[in-house]
Amino acid sequence: MPLPTIAVCCSGQGTNLQAILRAIRRRRLKARIGVVVSDNPKAYAIVRAMKAGIPTVVLDPRGFSSRERFDRALSKVIGRSRPRIIVLAGFMRILSPGFVRRYPRRILNIHPALLPAFSGCRAVADALRHGVKVTGVTVHFVDEKVDHGPILAQEPVPVRPGDTEQTLADRIHRVEHRIYPEAIQRVLKG
Ligand code: GRF
Repeated sequence: MPLPTIAVCCSGQGTNLQAILRAIRRRRLKARIGVVVSDNPKAYAIVRAMKAGIPTVVLDPRGFSSRERFDRALSKVIGRSRPRIIVLAGFMRILSPGFVRRYPRRILNIHPALLPAFSGCRAVADALRHGVKVTGVTVHFVDEKVDHGPILAQEPVPVRPGDTEQTLADRIHRVEHRIYPEAIQRVLKG
């Protein structure tokens, strides 16, 4: 049986992509990555993908006149590798409803908080600002709302006295790198 294909979308460092690549190498995640797409030409995730021999595509939003047009191009690029699922790993774009509807229960996202708390792109800073004692990580299917959709996995992460955004983000990342590949594998197994 050929391994199921996944497509991964990233905008930044790509440490979650790296964790996915490691899980694939160790056969904990039985999948292959068909393509890594980034909306950021400077994303280090692209370098990681290239080093791993994975096809990469950069779609610069500045070259598109609307979100819908960008998403149509994204869909085309992703569609070429015929992925079973689309994995958002630090992809800093809101997907249009049309895109999301094309892939019902086939888009996964990871968020650095216990959703529905602290949605949005400043989740770690917001958790610190509110003084919560526990935050965490959520893996969820993507629906038409932002940071919303059926939850697949969730794990708490303690906030320690003296934590900075960096120390808390690092602790959160360590959990992300473990639970995202696991959640992807569970989805692929059905
Ligand atoms: C992660 O914290 C993830 O939860 C959020 O974006 C960050 C991406 O980090 N959606 P990286 O690019 O995988 O290192």
